[in-house]
Amino acid sequence: MMADPQVADGVIPEDLDAHRALRRKDLLGIEDLDPDEIRLILDTAEHFKEISRRAIKKVPTLRGKSVINLFFEPSTRTRTSFEIAAKRLSADTQSISASTSAVVKGETLIDTARNIEAMFPDLLVIRHAFPGAAKVLADTCSAGVINAGDGAHEHPTQALLDALTIRDHKGDFDGLRVVIFGDIAHSRVVRSSIHCLRKLGAEVVLAAPPTFLPKGIEQMGVEVHHRLEPALEGADVVMALRVQLERGGKLSFPSTQEYFRLFGLNRERLALAKEDAIVMHPGPMNRGVEIASDVADGPSSVILDQVSNGVAVRMAVLYLLAGSGAAKHVETAA
Ligand code: CP
Repeated sequence: MMADPQVADGVIPEDLDAHRALRRKDLLGIEDLDPDEIRLILDTAEHFKEISRRAIKKVPTLRGKSVINLFFEPSTRTRTSFEIAAKRLSADTQSISASTSAVVKGETLIDTARNIEAMFPDLLVIRHAFPGAAKVLADTCSAGVINAGDGAHEHPTQALLDALTIRDHKGDFDGLRVVIFGDIAHSRVVRSSIHCLRKLGAEVVLAAPPTFLPKGIEQMGVEVHHRLEPALEGADVVMALRVQLERGGKLSFPSTQEYFRLFGLNRERLALAKEDAIVMHPGPMNRGVEIASDVADGPSSVILDQVSNGVAVRMAVLYLLAGSGAAKHVETAA
């Protein structure tokens, strides 16, 4: 069989089928993805991991494509890793934040989107406080739209990078007990995580004080606890969520110390989980509130693996949404 010239030229990683693509324009959430699409993204990310370990961390896969990051809310990990992912694929990137955009002068999201669209970008990445903001953008623009977190609705790439990290450490999802605890109500990612993990075959267990649990969350097919200890029994994966005081997360506790005493993940509580359980946190962490420092930095923690996998997953999503990326790139360049 003849070698694929795109692989030989280093346009795409070895063994990656140049014609794989998501048959959709946008990635708005995990709820609309089927398990095969999720596996396609994870498998593609697996191929892209290797590029970040090279001395020269760049392939020409998305040369000539442009990616615009619109971040209307603060972000460290998501924004940086989308920028790095796009650059490692040789796409042109531009990042816009609310404070430096015309939003501060009163421009609406739709007007902003129409103006950005007039510059012919290929992909738009958006983070916004309003649930549904990414959908509004996707309905307005012909460019592909990636949701980088719309309020407490969905944050699909975070759920995908978490799934990749779990797969790296546990191999398979079937029958895994994944405990997610903390401020479920205000979390950007928890709905995406529940959809993603259940579609892949894991059992999802939530633990939170009643004020941190949205009404009807049980209908998503999860086990719910109001105390952390019973949830942790036999857990394979323990994922802490930050208390989001800035989103109106009310502690219902006299202090953060009191919350930590009753709901923080410390070594004693972690000992209730399986011996080989892994500890995860999407970041940013509140040390001493939802998680003890010695657990966050301890041998069970895979928190920084999540961050590394964020780049690979976002490379995969950009590649797959750019529409058989490399194939198109080669045809256009020829
Ligand atoms: N996990 C996550 O979304 O982090 P950032 O808010 O820093 O992007």
